[in-house]
Amino acid sequence: MAAHDAIILGGGAAGLMCAARAAQAGKRVVVLERAETVGRKILISGGGRCNFTNIGTSPANYLSANPHFAKSALARYTARDFLDLVERHGIAWHEKTLGQLFCDGSARQIVDMLLAECAGGAVDIRCGETIRGVSHEGNFHVTTDRGRYSAPALVIATGGPSIPKLGATSFAYDLARQFGLKVIQPRPALVPLTLGGEEVLFGDISGVAAPVHATAGKASFAEAALFTHRGLSGPAILQASSYWQPGSALTIDFLPGQTGDWLLQRKRETPQTTVKAVLRNLLPQRLADILTERLGLAGDLGNLGDKALRQAQDRLGRWTFHPNGTEGFAKAEVTAGGIATGELSSRTMEATRVPGLFAIGEAVDVTGWLGGYNFQWAWASGVAAGDAIGAR
Ligand code: FDA
Repeated sequence: MAAHDAIILGGGAAGLMCAARAAQAGKRVVVLERAETVGRKILISGGGRCNFTNIGTSPANYLSANPHFAKSALARYTARDFLDLVERHGIAWHEKTLGQLFCDGSARQIVDMLLAECAGGAVDIRCGETIRGVSHEGNFHVTTDRGRYSAPALVIATGGPSIPKLGATSFAYDLARQFGLKVIQPRPALVPLTLGGEEVLFGDISGVAAPVHATAGKASFAEAALFTHRGLSGPAILQASSYWQPGSALTIDFLPGQTGDWLLQRKRETPQTTVKAVLRNLLPQRLADILTERLGLAGDLGNLGDKALRQAQDRLGRWTFHPNGTEGFAKAEVTAGGIATGELSSRTMEATRVPGLFAIGEAVDVTGWLGGYNFQWAWASGVAAGDAIGAR
């Protein structure tokens, strides 16, 4: 039996960060990872360049049943703190758009950086471990098919079930329930939405993208939308998908740059132009054509009534889609929901009813927007737990 100060289940973003911090504070830490290598989601993130944080991170960029929960950890370990670490490791980076920071080189540099930080504290990283059982008798005991590990602290850092083909599992929720912790119903987030009924016609323009405002519930995002064979994707839709509820509508403003009675104004200026021509000027041609067809407005602007044009204007600014579902965990970049924050200390991520048990990263009911926010939560919650373990 190996004796450690902390056992960390999951060698992903949050687990490695937590391990490094606790170990550098002098604790004996073991990381048990199911896959053959650590940090697989980091390696494929950001198109292989890892969008490792967002410089504008604030608690408003997260969804959770308790929107206040993430504040403390995010304030104590900021995007700037992670950037300092990146720079100390000599990793070149750049800002893409909207505060999103990426490696100039490869996401591998972030994994290597975390491994170097872990090595600095002599963290024992064990890959290819299948966890058979966890018990709690004084210490926490974890039995794997290779051995038994014991420690007074156990950290759940096994992430969420999005992209199961990368080895993602629902293990965190099963373990949390075993210890009596509540789990908020997990659901796919940052995920493409699917269309059915008449709206499948939009599948004909699969591959077409346009800058839009997409709104689901009270959240609105100004980014690109992309039509796919099955429905809607692109950053604006992925962002809105986290707020979309099954059965509800998603509205898209296809022409966020046009305000007021802009179509009536066009009628006065160029009465001989068609609606199709006006839209082709403002939108990708195939999108303009399908929207014109759906509006049913043929002929010159001059021959169309003001009422019809006003209705068309309104519809283009608030086009209502009725998604019939999402592409599920197979395509979801993250999982919303998870271990209920009410069970955890927001300072340390320790379960209030089970001293010594911690939960961090995506396993917890804190979900970021697209754009580096999810990694920032993984780093911040990992540091919160790692430092708390280090101080024990
Ligand atoms: P993470 O999933 O990183 O780690 C969990 C670890 O636990 C994994 O190594 C897994 O193998 C292991 N594990 C699972 N079950 C286990 C078990 N039973 N026993 C032992 N180990 C187990 N975010 C962002 O901010 N910027 C970005 O650019 C991207 N890009 C991106 C692309 C793609 C394709 C995906 C799928 C996701 C992203 N994300 C992202 C989201 C980001 O990857 C995610 O939020 C973090 O990796 C979460 O970190 P965790 O450490 O919580 O889980």
